[in-house]
Amino acid sequence: MLRDHTDAEARAALPLKWGAVPEGTIPAWVAEMDWHTAPAVTDAVTAALQRGVTGYAPFDDAGVGAAYAGFARRQWGWEVPPEASVPVPAVVPGLRLVLESLCPPGPVVVPLPCYPPFRDVVALAGREAVHVETDPDDPEAALDLAAVERAFAAGARTLLLCSPHNPLGRVARRAELEALRDLAAHHGARVVADEVHAPLTLPDGPAFTPYLAVDPRGIAVTSTTKSFNAPGLPCAQVVALDPEDRAVLQALPLVQTHGWSPLGAVASVAAWRHGDAWLAAVRDRVAANRDLLGTLLAAHLPLARTRRLEATYLAWLDLRAYAAPDGRGPDPVARAEAGGVRLGPGEDYHPGLPGHARLNLATSPDRLTEVVRRLGVALAPA
Ligand SMILES: Cc1ncc(COP(=O)(O)O)c(C=O)c1O
Repeated sequence: MLRDHTDAEARAALPLKWGAVPEGTIPAWVAEMDWHTAPAVTDAVTAALQRGVTGYAPFDDAGVGAAYAGFARRQWGWEVPPEASVPVPAVVPGLRLVLESLCPPGPVVVPLPCYPPFRDVVALAGREAVHVETDPDDPEAALDLAAVERAFAAGARTLLLCSPHNPLGRVARRAELEALRDLAAHHGARVVADEVHAPLTLPDGPAFTPYLAVDPRGIAVTSTTKSFNAPGLPCAQVVALDPEDRAVLQALPLVQTHGWSPLGAVASVAAWRHGDAWLAAVRDRVAANRDLLGTLLAAHLPLARTRRLEATYLAWLDLRAYAAPDGRGPDPVARAEAGGVRLGPGEDYHPGLPGHARLNLATSPDRLTEVVRRLGVALAPA
């Protein structure tokens, strides 16, 4: 059901992921998939283009909220009102808008490691970031709720949650989300949940719980662009259950919310409504690649450590055992690059944490096999 790109096709289709690396290097960095999006999306967007849908976005949500509500009901058994979604251009601008317009003044808790733009949006929103670290030596480690409580007690009033987590690939358990909700309520803080990876929760792991299903005061931001590999068709949604929150967003100057594309909305509606079977094939491929990665690491990089991936196609690798003992010389990510593989440097996700990398598994098994083979050669002790 998935249509993989050859290298030449991928280079043409994914100009950021493949265009940023020299010919011959395999890109396993930015979160894009090396295959076509769902036929349901391509068909809907092609038909819309043929109808001449190239105008401005409308004032309403173009049906995105109702389509999302159907998806949430089928996939997670969660009832969310269609009117809860407010379209925004993309997830990260949506997070910024929410921080600026809906979150109480005060510092923002940003758990580390984090998707790097989390730190940027907090800075752009003029807020101080308070970092809560996840123990890199504990492969089971979850959000440190005791540290979150200390941060709230010291004045932080917002927490940026990545659920499921990029880059740890972890699905937050319902009980953890309930405990977080209770802490936030106690301190008058709000949780903003980036749930863009939720449709990619893997079939054999814990179930995804939408944050708003446990905390109606929370705000979620999501889109289909990550799980359906279509970030070039911009459309995301802020999901807010409180009508007053939505009224605040809807009253913002148009320049702050507009910029989402009507074609992006067509893609989102098609994906939320008709993408389940394709998405199931993606999840199966990612789960199979995760298992393949385990086998390949054992063969080529036995000292690498990783967490069991519960969601997303992004594996978090601890390569500290392959760093030079005295900390001198190129780090594992630089050596991987020299060996023909572009990884996401761990320091981008967790400043100050050496020897980690993010590896993108959304590719063919053959390419993944070649990636790990190359890493084994590049990182082999001299
Ligand atoms: C957690 C997370 N949020 C947001 C995004 C990007 O979303 P957008 O392109 O809609 O801003 C990504 C992309 O990888 C991501 O991993």
